[in-house]
Amino acid sequence: MFEATNITKHYKQKYVLDNVSLTLTDGEIVGLVGKNGAGKSTLLHILATLLQPDSGVVSLDGQTTKATLRKHIGFVPQQLALWDDLSVKENMQFFERLSWQQHDTAQLRSICESMALTAWEEPVHTLSGGMKRKLNLAIALIQKPRLLLLDEPTVGIDLKSKLDIAEALKMLAAKGTMILYISHDLDELRNVCHRIISLGDDDFYYTLLQGTTTITKL
Ligand SMILES: Nc1ncnc2c1ncn2[C@@H]1O[C@H](COP(=O)(O)OP(=O)(O)OP(=O)(O)O)[C@@H](O)[C@H]1O
Ligand SMILES: [Mg+2]
Repeated sequence: MFEATNITKHYKQKYVLDNVSLTLTDGEIVGLVGKNGAGKSTLLHILATLLQPDSGVVSLDGQTTKATLRKHIGFVPQQLALWDDLSVKENMQFFERLSWQQHDTAQLRSICESMALTAWEEPVHTLSGGMKRKLNLAIALIQKPRLLLLDEPTVGIDLKSKLDIAEALKMLAAKGTMILYISHDLDELRNVCHRIISLGDDDFYYTLLQGTTTITKL
């Protein structure tokens, strides 16, 4: 189980997160919605322990130390973080060496294939946007995370790739991985998520989604 309790964060005078709490149980896929600037990425960075909150606690199965959390949390940022001149294979091998898990080349390749990413020897700069997104996600899976935090992983990609990613996420969740997922695509959220959380004081998404899925306000 993953828990964030009473998370507060402000930048200068502005409170972005005011006493935010959430819980994820094993195998749950939870969507996170909210208007631009609502604080979604800020919250994800705090949950990934990449940003220090003003107050509040993050815990995974009762563990709160940063090193333990980092070991078990996979984070896919809004911006792509790939080596453009290296091939898919070389990127996977590079990040495998940085991770605490060990995979041989065949295992790394099968992670990519589970995402319907079939390019392997091609340099990253020759890939389409959707393929790069899939690679970004595949890299996060190398460390077999207990919790996967995704910041708009399907922005600007075609429907087929979105569905590929949706299927891959559902398979991971079926094996117990917890997934917290920021997206502005409501069809996709309804398809992928077990429930949705709306962040911020704007009720737009809440009103829109109410009655069509389980949605709660933070
Ligand atoms: N490093 C920073 N310094 C100052 N203000 C910041 C910083 N990072 C974010 N903010 C502000 O905090 C608020 C929340 O930003 P955040 O990026 O978390 O929003 P978001 O919900 O992810 O938005 P989007 O949908 O546009 O990605 C915004 O008003 C933003 O300007
Ligand atoms: Mg954001």
